[in-house]
Amino acid sequence: MVRKPNQKLPGLPGTIGLPLIGDLPRLLPDPLPYIQRLHSRYGNVFYACFALNRKSVFVLGPEATEQVLVTKAGSFSNTLGYADQSQYLGEEGILFRDGTSHTELRRAINPAFAPDQLTRYVAVMDYGVQEQIGYWRKETPSLLDDINVLTLRIAARTIVGVQIEDEAKEINEHIVNMLRSMTSIAPPIPGSRKWRGLKSRAWVQAFFRQQINQRRNEPGDDVFSCLCSTELGLDADAIVDNMVGILAASYETTASAIAMMTYALASKPMWQDRLRDELSCLLEPGGMTVEAIRNCEQTSWVFKESLRLYSPLSYFPRRTVEDVEVEGYSIPANTAITVAPRFTHHMSSIYPQPDTFDPGRFSPERREDRVHSLAWMPFGKGAHTCAGMHFAQIEVAVFFARLLEQFSVELTNERVRLNFVPVLKPNQSIPMRLVSQ
Ligand code: HEM
Repeated sequence: MVRKPNQKLPGLPGTIGLPLIGDLPRLLPDPLPYIQRLHSRYGNVFYACFALNRKSVFVLGPEATEQVLVTKAGSFSNTLGYADQSQYLGEEGILFRDGTSHTELRRAINPAFAPDQLTRYVAVMDYGVQEQIGYWRKETPSLLDDINVLTLRIAARTIVGVQIEDEAKEINEHIVNMLRSMTSIAPPIPGSRKWRGLKSRAWVQAFFRQQINQRRNEPGDDVFSCLCSTELGLDADAIVDNMVGILAASYETTASAIAMMTYALASKPMWQDRLRDELSCLLEPGGMTVEAIRNCEQTSWVFKESLRLYSPLSYFPRRTVEDVEVEGYSIPANTAITVAPRFTHHMSSIYPQPDTFDPGRFSPERREDRVHSLAWMPFGKGAHTCAGMHFAQIEVAVFFARLLEQFSVELTNERVRLNFVPVLKPNQSIPMRLVSQ
């Protein structure tokens, strides 16, 4: 049983908000404006209250965030920080580990993300994307759901090493239930979000567990096989927790990145044309390679700019394991911490006119992110930096090469309503349509 975080924060500025609901009404639907107000009042380090008046210390801006994720990372725990989430996703998952237990596991899965593996994955991604886009030529797309299922299918075929066809929608629903359960404060009574999350977890666990023996006997070179290797010595629970965690970390985030980049491109047709031209080289016979994708520099600016504006993980947690000083403030042991890439990405001191979609800010002449190594951090930083960063970038490029070959995207409404937790996503649908080229 993990102890509840410390609520006494002497010497730290902050706000306790309203009884029971804390600052929640101001943090929802988009926490950014409220965090910006608190930042101008208190500076880079202050506390605010989530539901049930649970305090969390916000550590903002690249310098202070670097202390949490990199220079003083040993004082901050993922295991404790993610205690609420790991109950639902599986406590042994890589993201929820600290210290050597994390380092060893990270070393074990890294080969599945090495450049030679990415080269193999490109063809699998391209196959999946073409299949989806072929379907969109015949049927009216339900873009958000279809993108989710596409990224899940690709993750399953690459990192899990299984073909999922009919089960894709079912697995997606179960993982969405698990992720949603993490944002609910109600107890797991029948019918509640938490109850559905736990039931879904049992379903997904059984899905992976039944495949472990076969994978041990006939290993592939995917993440699942790395985790099943007897040398690593993980038991079935740990393997399952990690598969659930990595699958959940991979496809919802990538679906969010694709959905929001499609929306951003729909709002700036000029960039659509530029990407269509640049990515056309991938459509030549033999052209779909990791190297060719890496040479598509304008695509990489659009990818970065879209992730700056719409980081799939806009906020993420840690908890102190000892007293630690950040920017002159002493934060006691066992304090909940919130790190906020979305805040850094909207700092006008780093990115002038931060709300404007302007991919050129990542061009070599401008490189606005160059001011600090954590000025752009949608994939996190430090020991837990996203393992799938390059995987995601390649998948996105393959997707847009095929999409823009066939279609233009047009907005049907300028405004899109977003949810920010657990993963940034349009609230219901993406307000745009595909128009055949
Ligand atoms: C645009 C897409 C993605 C974004 C924005 C993203 C973002 C992140 C972030 C911010 C973290 C660190 C969280 C923390 O420090 O608390 C993370 C960790 C992780 N991500 Fe991603 N991710 C993406 C795609 C992927 C993909 C495609 C995979 C796998 C194929 C993946 C696998 C992982 C894993 C395994 C971790 C845990 C690493 C560790 O604890 O050592 N991610 N991701």
